[in-house]
Amino acid sequence: MKQQKVLVAGASGYLGRYVVKEFAERGYSVRALVRTPDKLSAEGPNLEPAVADVVAEVFTGDATDRSTLKDACKGVDMVFSCMGLTKPQDNVSSEEVDHLGNKALLEDAIAHGVKKFIYISVYNAEKMMDIDVVKAHELFVRDLQSSGMPYTVIRPTGFFSDMGMFFSMARSGHMFMLGEGENRVNPIHGADLATVCADAAEKDKQEIGVGGPDTYSFNETVTMAFDALGKNPWITHVPMWVGDAALFLTGFFNKGLAGVMSFAIAVSGMDTVAPATGKQHLKDFFQELATKENENP
Ligand SMILES: NC(=O)c1ccc[n+]([C@@H]2O[C@H](COP(=O)([O-])OP(=O)(O)OC[C@H]3O[C@@H](n4cnc5c(N)ncnc54)[C@H](OP(=O)(O)O)[C@@H]3O)[C@@H](O)[C@H]2O)c1
Repeated sequence: MKQQKVLVAGASGYLGRYVVKEFAERGYSVRALVRTPDKLSAEGPNLEPAVADVVAEVFTGDATDRSTLKDACKGVDMVFSCMGLTKPQDNVSSEEVDHLGNKALLEDAIAHGVKKFIYISVYNAEKMMDIDVVKAHELFVRDLQSSGMPYTVIRPTGFFSDMGMFFSMARSGHMFMLGEGENRVNPIHGADLATVCADAAEKDKQEIGVGGPDTYSFNETVTMAFDALGKNPWITHVPMWVGDAALFLTGFFNKGLAGVMSFAIAVSGMDTVAPATGKQHLKDFFQELATKENENP
């Protein structure tokens, strides 16, 4: 049988690297779409693997300039995209990257006869349509659904990389947490989610909601981060309205940061528990981060 070729957009990110690795291990030829090819050669900040050695081809393109995406999908059987704006970037909006960048990629995929498009959106998106980044994801989902292209939309809960932010905050010895911290989440490791993504390539399901094997309150999550660092948990709970007020003010001088904050605030204020899968546990992930930190202080 002919070897299948998959384009992975967002291949340099947390999830993208695990997906590249998973497809390569299953025998696919992987073309990585990235802005900065060098990134593929080093481990990422949340222990996501270097993947330069398993990538068959690198395609350099930027979602904000559709001309650079032209022919990214030439000769490809399938596209997987987790290309998205997750950190503030000067003068770049979620609409440009998450919606229009992926739309440009979809149009290129259609032009080149790609057989399937797999896209990563967000769990509980319908409850957060007033948040720019979520809206941009869902506008693309609508484009995908109406395109005629066979597709799967995967809707994960939080990634372990996001919980890595709690670890970074716990390192200072003190953490401010929005709300009472009682809302619950079942975050998922990139490798476990990559398994779901690669399985989706071989199935016909159009929508998949997914989270990790363990459900914790935010308080439990943060306490685990302090424990891994050998520190006593010191958490100050801040009312949700303080987050809203900070968001309102931030919006005046830094729209990009406000966009990222609005997603974090929304997620802090609700349960995000999706059908559970996977084998990797957050406690072990925090322990690995702590061990790495002790080795390279
Ligand atoms: N993190 C979560 O908890 C979570 C939960 C649900 C859904 N999601 C969604 O899942 C997707 C992946 O998340 P992640 O945590 O893996 O994000 P990530 O680590 O920030 O990776 C995002 C990827 O998109 C690329 N990208 C960003 N802007 C680009 C541009 N202008 N042109 C081309 N590529 C660009 C990044 O490239 P660079 O490496 O060059 O920056 C990176 O490869 C995102 O769409 C996110 O919204 C995330």
